[in-house]
Amino acid sequence: RLSRRRLLGGGAAAAGVVGATAAGWGAAGLTDREPARDWALDTVPFYGKHQAGIETTPQRHVAFVGFDLAPGTSRDDIIGLLRIWTDDAARLTSGLPALADTEPELAARPGKLTITVGFGPELFTIAGLPQRRPSWLRPLPAFPIDRLDPAYTGADLLIQVCAEESTTVAHAVRVLCKHVKSLVRVRWVQRGFRDPPSGATMRNLMGQVDGTVTIAAPDFERLVWEDGASVPWLAGGTSLVLRRIAMDLDRWDELDVEARELTVGRRLSNGAPLTGTTEFDEPDLAALDRHGIPVIPPSSHVARARHTSDGERFLRRGFNYDEPPEPGQVSNSGLLFVAYQRDIDTQFLPVQTRLAEVDALNEWTTPIGSAVFVIPPGVPGPGHYLGQQLFD
Ligand code: HEM
Repeated sequence: RLSRRRLLGGGAAAAGVVGATAAGWGAAGLTDREPARDWALDTVPFYGKHQAGIETTPQRHVAFVGFDLAPGTSRDDIIGLLRIWTDDAARLTSGLPALADTEPELAARPGKLTITVGFGPELFTIAGLPQRRPSWLRPLPAFPIDRLDPAYTGADLLIQVCAEESTTVAHAVRVLCKHVKSLVRVRWVQRGFRDPPSGATMRNLMGQVDGTVTIAAPDFERLVWEDGASVPWLAGGTSLVLRRIAMDLDRWDELDVEARELTVGRRLSNGAPLTGTTEFDEPDLAALDRHGIPVIPPSSHVARARHTSDGERFLRRGFNYDEPPEPGQVSNSGLLFVAYQRDIDTQFLPVQTRLAEVDALNEWTTPIGSAVFVIPPGVPGPGHYLGQQLFD
């Protein structure tokens, strides 16, 4: 018969065994795995020249929240809102509860939490600063492939909340939203996830290795961070394009592996270009097979998306989404495509325009949401607030 004492005793003994194993793996030679480490306690610095959440290695969970400013909002209201968000973000990202946090317990596991704030085009008009709006900050032109839903399009203000745990993201989003609720209306919330194997590239929900071509540290200064030459107040900031792109997975199911690989120009197994063997081999767009046909089809996604000059490169930091299906459908999945660049007009637009003209992938993907934001520089230290450079 199991007594309460035996149950508790057994439980404690079992916990002891687990603890000892975790601490002593290496020494005991049982396995080469590292002792268990609680990533949920890790933090990403909030203060700095740039906002966190862009150069930061992408965390597993994201929520993008788009807000409209309430009618009658003034420049001082916006500054007040930004002061509140700065204080909340500084605390939450370091693992401390926000002021008057109603669930302070949830702040104890920051899990590399980053909170990144962006301004939409209309904020500049509302704040009475239209002359300070960067010239590239306006809704993207309408593309023939677009089927935009207003429910996922445009916004005056953005928060991008990323963390390794979804509870952390949910808590931070709730705190940030409720602290400014008299000044804003939530226009949309877009949640996403990515689960890359340790140190490797994530896969999207079409099964492809997604994110191979990216921007490495030294190129951030040139391609992502504004240096103040074109937009003086923005030195250290950047721009964000968020496109919600639906995948027609039911029709994608009809393709065999070869057809799927020809659509993208890379292998499904490891993401290698069709002209190479490993993921990071350079694609050879000029290579022909023995019949004289290009190995990577000119209409494939990578052939069309590849930059035609260095100045067309940008940072992609996307996430998968998977929502409840509409009645009669079996899935509602896609990609939260996210691009950061100094200048949307010269970097992102030429590539998106090209893809809207021809991209084999368009047969199975449809942009259903679109929004653009300027991402102000980082907060240099306590006593300053997010976006202050715009208002000073
Ligand atoms: C590359 C998937 C939308 C721009 C890739 C790759 C995949 C992929 C699998 C190859 C691996 C890699 O380098 O990451 C998708 C899917 C999309 C999508 C499933 C939509 C659901 C877009 C959009 C843009 C874009 C909207 C830009 C407007 C790029 C670029 C590359 C790329 C620049 C790198 C090309 C190269 O230099 O080789 N994408 N993509 N993608 N994609 Fe996309």
